[in-house]
Amino acid sequence: MPAQLIDGKAIAEKVRHQVARQVQARHQDGRRVPGLAVVLVGEDPASEVYVRTKHRACEEAGIHSFRHQLSENTSQQALETLVDDLNADPTVDGILVQLPLPQHLDERPILERIRTDKDVDGFHPYNLGRLAQRLPMLRPCTPKGVMTLLQESGLKVRGLNATVVGASNIVGRPMALELMLAGCTTTVCHRFTHDLEEHVRRADLLVAAVGNPGLIKGEWVKEGAIVIDVGINRQENGHLIGDIEFEPAAARASHITPVPGGVGPMTVASLLENTLFAAELHDGMDQ
Ligand code: GUN
Repeated sequence: MPAQLIDGKAIAEKVRHQVARQVQARHQDGRRVPGLAVVLVGEDPASEVYVRTKHRACEEAGIHSFRHQLSENTSQQALETLVDDLNADPTVDGILVQLPLPQHLDERPILERIRTDKDVDGFHPYNLGRLAQRLPMLRPCTPKGVMTLLQESGLKVRGLNATVVGASNIVGRPMALELMLAGCTTTVCHRFTHDLEEHVRRADLLVAAVGNPGLIKGEWVKEGAIVIDVGINRQENGHLIGDIEFEPAAARASHITPVPGGVGPMTVASLLENTLFAAELHDGMDQ
């Protein structure tokens, strides 16, 4: 039997509506509407699309979105000063610095300068450390979105053999921490892994986050596995495909995410949840 499709678009919409309802309830209670500051440096076209999407999603959820568009040649100091100002601004609950930054800027000190209770990307070592120690606070958006997909699909993952392919700071590593927290026996594969196929074949739950189209062969997928494809790769004909060969994987899996329309929409939905969560952290706090 072919796999059941996990409809990320529909699940993301449900999450966004939930956030919108809670934002409205806050407003009716006389509490502050959450605010998200999105900082974009330079004119990377893909980043511009992401930032516009985030802005529109905030508007629809009733969250204030403050856009800071800085020129390509912004200095490290100017960017750090902006982060300081946003850290101190009581109308700003979340701060997101869109990555990648232009070459001349050092990303690490910028990300570590963001107040940990406004770090809605969850990239600060404090927030990753909290997740590693099973005390999650603000969680990286894409792995959090994957966990929401699994929950909303009624899939129980405790005790499963999970294989994460990709070990980036943004997706692979926090994904592995989320899966460990959920009780999976978790393997992380990366560029030095000797036998990727073997690790994929053992996976009851497979998450691919590499950015290499079709890297994972559908025939490697275990019969009945849950398959989550975080990869979004644009082909020459303009079509988007994932890291996993879709058709043969879908013939073996029990559940699978499509690309597009799987994990992609969940990142922004998680960002809205994180911004609301940050606003709740700030309730009653004289920021
Ligand atoms: N660039 C690509 N994905 C992301 C993300 O989730 N957050 C930020 N800040 N930049 C990104």
